[in-house]
Amino acid sequence: MNDGCPGNGQVKKFVFRGKSSSNGETRGEYLEVVIPELLSAGYSFYTWPSAPLLAWYLWTQRRHLHGLRVLELGCGTALPGILAAKCGAHVTLSDSVALPRSLQHLSACCEANGLIPGRDVQLIGLSWGLFLADFHALRPLDLVIASDCFYEPTQFEDVLATVAYLIEGSDSKLLCAYQERSGDWSIEALLKKWGLKGAILDLDSLSESTGVDFRALIGERSLHILEISSE
Ligand SMILES: C[S@@+](CC[C@H](N)C(=O)[O-])C[C@H]1O[C@@H](n2cnc3c(N)ncnc32)[C@H](O)[C@@H]1O
Repeated sequence: MNDGCPGNGQVKKFVFRGKSSSNGETRGEYLEVVIPELLSAGYSFYTWPSAPLLAWYLWTQRRHLHGLRVLELGCGTALPGILAAKCGAHVTLSDSVALPRSLQHLSACCEANGLIPGRDVQLIGLSWGLFLADFHALRPLDLVIASDCFYEPTQFEDVLATVAYLIEGSDSKLLCAYQERSGDWSIEALLKKWGLKGAILDLDSLSESTGVDFRALIGERSLHILEISSE
C-alpha cells in the first residue's frame, strides 16, 4: 500500500448543522471539520465517500457521544473520529502500523481542527489482525467506528477478528460505513465464525427521524452503515 508519495494537496471542508431544543427554546448547532488531503498519495490521505456518511450519522447521535471511549479503525484522514472528538468523545484514531507517513498526515488532520494528538485525541498504529502487546490496553471501549475498511476481501477476516476481540464481553459495537463494490462479496460467514452479528441501518427511517437527507449524501453510490455486535 502507498504511504505518502507526493500528491496534489487540497483542503476539504465538511459542515454539519443541526438544531437542539431545551427549555422550549430551539437553537442552531454548527460544526466545521477541515481535512487536508493529498490526492493520489495513497488510500489513507483522502476522505472516502463512506466517511461523510458515517460522520453525519455520528452527528445525529452527538448528544450521546460525550464521554464515550471511541476507537476508529483504518481511519485515514479520520473525518468521523475527529467529529466524535469535537462532540466530546475520548477518541483514539488508528491506521496501519506499517504506514508511518499516513499516521503523520493523520496528525496534521487533527491539528487542522484544533485537536492536539496525545492531549485531545490519541493516535496509534493498529493493523487489523495483528495483536501486538499493547493491543489489550485499548479496552474497554464504548464504540468502535470504521469507514470504508471492507474494500479488500482478503482483509475482511482480519478486520472482523480485530473487532471481535475489541468488543468481546461488552455492550460495545462497531459502527461502520462501507461501499458495496461487488455483489459477490459477503462477510456473513465470517461474522458467524467470529461470534458476531450485523444489522444494516435503515437510512430512510433515519432521514425521517433526524431530518438529515442521507439519500442525498449517498448519491449514486451503494453506501451503507452496518452495526456489528457480539452474538
Ligand atoms: C479506503 S481507505 C478508508 C480511509 C478512511 N477511513 C476513509 O473512509 O476516508 C482504507 C484505510 O484502511 C487502512 N488500512 C489498510 N489496511 C490496513 C490494515 N491492515 N490495518 C489497518 N488499517 C489498514 C488504510 O491505510 C486506509 O486508511
